[in-house]
Amino acid sequence: MEPLSLFKKTVYFLLGKYKHLTKRAANFFFDLCYGLDTRHHVSIEVLGTDPTLCYGYEATDWISFKSVLKRLDIKSTDTFLDLGSGKGRALLIASEFPFRKIIGVEISKELCDLARKNVERYLQRKKAQCGHIEIVNANAFTYRVPSEVSVLYLADPFPGKTLDRVLNNLVGLVKIDLRRVLVIYGGSQFCGKFTAFSNIKELPSVSGYQFYKIYEFSPNPAVCVL
Ligand SMILES: C[S@@+](CC[C@H](N)C(=O)[O-])C[C@H]1O[C@@H](n2cnc3c(N)ncnc32)[C@H](O)[C@@H]1O
Repeated sequence: MEPLSLFKKTVYFLLGKYKHLTKRAANFFFDLCYGLDTRHHVSIEVLGTDPTLCYGYEATDWISFKSVLKRLDIKSTDTFLDLGSGKGRALLIASEFPFRKIIGVEISKELCDLARKNVERYLQRKKAQCGHIEIVNANAFTYRVPSEVSVLYLADPFPGKTLDRVLNNLVGLVKIDLRRVLVIYGGSQFCGKFTAFSNIKELPSVSGYQFYKIYEFSPNPAVCVL
């Protein structure tokens, strides 16, 4: 290998390593500074949920998710929903933006209880822009997305069967209510499910520490806002 390409490869390798370490350190300090418990993975076996409808718990990366929300033009009329909210990290990150309301839906009662504690601790220590946070213990498979929701986060919380159901419901609701919903999707496996609908439009992606796709659900696909 030529010295220059070896040098380039080494630089990219170190940058990759550095990003990963920064991300881990930020997530660690985030929990430490605010007295939270959001970091540790919880397997589907421990949660005892149905593996055909659910995945286990894995926290959203603090830095990359914040950078996604920064790129959206969040208004005080917007409501944020995290379907599969786990220990509530994305809800805490969203609270730093001027949402009217923040909702987390989580199938595990234990994780809902933990998320409520995390929210309480966080709001005691940090002056949030949105302190109106509600956590609902429900299955996304049957949950009806409230008409006030304008930003929906799917961190890649469940398998295709549940995602199909959620997307079909949402597409129907958007047509009935004539409203527009932005969906932030943290997965990569099921992007084709979004683009299969004619009234879901993919907006320019946000890459950072993690790759996110943003989809606009609307009665008629409109102009990109990013
Ligand atoms: C990848 S974690 C999401 C983490 C979270 N959004 C965050 O901000 O850190 C996926 C979560 O979705 C939950 N989940 C999986 N299937 C679900 C379903 N059908 N209904 C509701 N929650 C579900 C899991 O219990 C888990 O806590």
